[in-house]
Amino acid sequence: MSEPSETPDTVKTQGYFQPLGKIGHYDLLKKIAEGGMGSIYMARNTKDKTVVAIKVMSPNYVHNPVLLKRFEQEYRVASKFNHPNLVRALEFGTENGLPFLVLEFVNGESLGVLISKQGKFEELEGIKIIAQVAKALNQVHKDKLIHRDVKPDNILVGKNGIAKLTDLGLVKEVSVGDLNLTRSGRGLGTPNFMAPEQFRDAKNADIRCDIYSLGATLYTMLTGELPYKSVNPLETWMKKVQNDLPTPRELNPRISERTDWAIRRAMDSDPDIRPSSCREFVEDLVGKSTRKSTVNNAALEKANIKPPSEAIWFMAYNDDQGKQHVVKGTAKAIRRSFKDGILEDPIKYKLGKSAEGPFEDMKIFPEFRDLAVHLTKPNTNANSKTKQDGEPTPITIPDESSKITKEPKRPQTETPSKIYYVVGAGVVIAISLIIYAVISLR
Ligand SMILES: Nc1ncnc2c1ncn2[C@@H]1O[C@H](COP(=O)(O)OP(=O)(O)O)[C@@H](O)[C@H]1O
Ligand SMILES: [Mg+2]
Repeated sequence: MSEPSETPDTVKTQGYFQPLGKIGHYDLLKKIAEGGMGSIYMARNTKDKTVVAIKVMSPNYVHNPVLLKRFEQEYRVASKFNHPNLVRALEFGTENGLPFLVLEFVNGESLGVLISKQGKFEELEGIKIIAQVAKALNQVHKDKLIHRDVKPDNILVGKNGIAKLTDLGLVKEVSVGDLNLTRSGRGLGTPNFMAPEQFRDAKNADIRCDIYSLGATLYTMLTGELPYKSVNPLETWMKKVQNDLPTPRELNPRISERTDWAIRRAMDSDPDIRPSSCREFVEDLVGKSTRKSTVNNAALEKANIKPPSEAIWFMAYNDDQGKQHVVKGTAKAIRRSFKDGILEDPIKYKLGKSAEGPFEDMKIFPEFRDLAVHLTKPNTNANSKTKQDGEPTPITIPDESSKITKEPKRPQTETPSKIYYVVGAGVVIAISLIIYAVISLR
């Protein structure tokens, strides 16, 4: 875990505010927000004069054991991390019977407020924020925890551009029952940003539900639209399991094909199709590996979210006699060959960075992953020509390249999980109709 000496958002007050009251050794300066469980104040530590945020539980909830547990859990989890992109919890206490939580103060606004104020984000700006939240989530996931409520309102963006994930009250350990923390008046997560399996099987949802929510957050940032807005929860779930959602590019044609694909992959109804980690999601967005270098804004700027096209790649394939051939080309040229249908079925080709190999599946490499991973909903944009990829560049193929022949397209088969979802949706509709019939007959 990284150890920031002092968080950049920790500010010292100049004494502008008259305190509203006192909690512990903190002067309450200003109410910042009315949250789901109580009020959030800006406050000043009377000892060291630093500014903090204090969440005070509403008197309406102090007898609700589930919400109390969540409050304590938020402290337990948020105090153990020391990550620049996670809001730290500093103290937990009770004042006049009301539990309160002291948090590092973020001098900025929630992403939800920013989106409603300024509308959609430019693609690179959006990716820079999501890459920071992805780092925070990676840390949470490494600790075998799931956040379960990733959404724009729970991401605070400081005036210094640093994004911090907050609201860790719903965190759950991977593969451990959830202590019924979801059974409360506050509900679990927000339907628009929740993965479909969180509706159906919240207890067994894994870190991939956070990846879904992170993808949905970027969707909203870049399109200015809430996914599955203005539909009721049942309809939301049904549409989610069918991936029935306008693509990001349909709503904002300025979004690059790569980002459109990466968001749709992260939001796929089938968790097996989503990236397996937040790091992989960022790789999908930037089109290059982040394994060695940590993704920082400079690296993103450099990658400019376009595929690095000039490096030479080596592609190995077997001919009909099982003899291996190796051809080479730039990423741009190889991608174009697949997009134009000169090469088909990426499964048959392995890629490497030298003529001698090692050669690995195309989906290992972020530069080509979008060609090799098929989403549940057919990728309608995948074969369209875009300015981003430029004009086709001839791939350097030796003589034996003539043996690369076009193969018939494999039929798209329904994945078993999709069938499962459709049957599940049918059962839910049937039950709803029966309940409706019984109510009408009374
Ligand atoms: N550490 C903080 N610094 C500054 N503002 C905060 C902080 N924590 C919360 N807020 C403000 O309060 C709002 C609600 O906080 P959140 O932690 O999401 O609470 P809730 O449990 O009510 O969802 C945030 O959107 C933000 O505006
Ligand atoms: Mg919140």
